[in-house]
Amino acid sequence: AGAFSSLRSPGEAAFIAGHRGDKTVAPENTLQALGQALNSAADYVETDVQLTADGVPVLMHDWTVDRTTNGTGPVWNYSYEELSALDAGSWFGEEFAGATVPSLEEFLNLLRWSTKNAILELKGSWTDEQVGLIADLIARHGVSDHVMIGSFDIMTLQALQRVSPELPGMLIVRDIVGDPGALAAAAGAVALVTSKKAITQDPELVERVHDAGLGILIYTLNDSETWSDAVSLGVDGIVTDRPAELGQWIAQE
Ligand code: G3P
Ligand code: CA
Repeated sequence: AGAFSSLRSPGEAAFIAGHRGDKTVAPENTLQALGQALNSAADYVETDVQLTADGVPVLMHDWTVDRTTNGTGPVWNYSYEELSALDAGSWFGEEFAGATVPSLEEFLNLLRWSTKNAILELKGSWTDEQVGLIADLIARHGVSDHVMIGSFDIMTLQALQRVSPELPGMLIVRDIVGDPGALAAAAGAVALVTSKKAITQDPELVERVHDAGLGILIYTLNDSETWSDAVSLGVDGIVTDRPAELGQWIAQE
């Protein structure tokens, strides 16, 4: 049933994906938050990738730098050097003043020393050449077996299939309408990542996704009630802002 299902053996607990690192303890998507998640109970660290004006892959969720740095305007208007000069920590707490927007390369340099895995979400729409840049970086850091590529964009995942089919793709969808197998097949994805709303609306969704030979992750679940619902439905992974707490909760269950 594809590479993804081999990541979770039958009977094994749902895996934990730390959303933007561990964003409860350090500013999201900084090396501090990502490092904390790598050292937590998280099995995966999820982070968001965008390109700077000069084509350097960096980790930031929003299209603009306004919320999480002291700068303004779209990420793609900044060169990597300009972006690196921004303070990406003070908004979260003075003790994080001077934290920077990391490059993907900086994160891969942490990941290569860890046994953990990463979900790299490519934000927006990526060309074959741009996906190739990411695939090369992943290969050069020796972490190809530890990385999955997520995207809301089917065409980006199709580019991944053309450029680097050995990297597993995950299609992120807020709502799943119709046949999940057909949706994933169009993207060449081995798993779907969907919202709590999607499984609440359709309690048989997890079974249908599994019947199609795919994995399913749910985002972003932050309390024990929703963790419990997701585990009872048999999801493969839970994306959470609270990876350490989810680890404790799973251990007690
Ligand atoms: O893992 C899926 C989730 O990260 C998608 O939502 O907006 O937090 O990137 P967002
Ligand atoms: Ca994301």
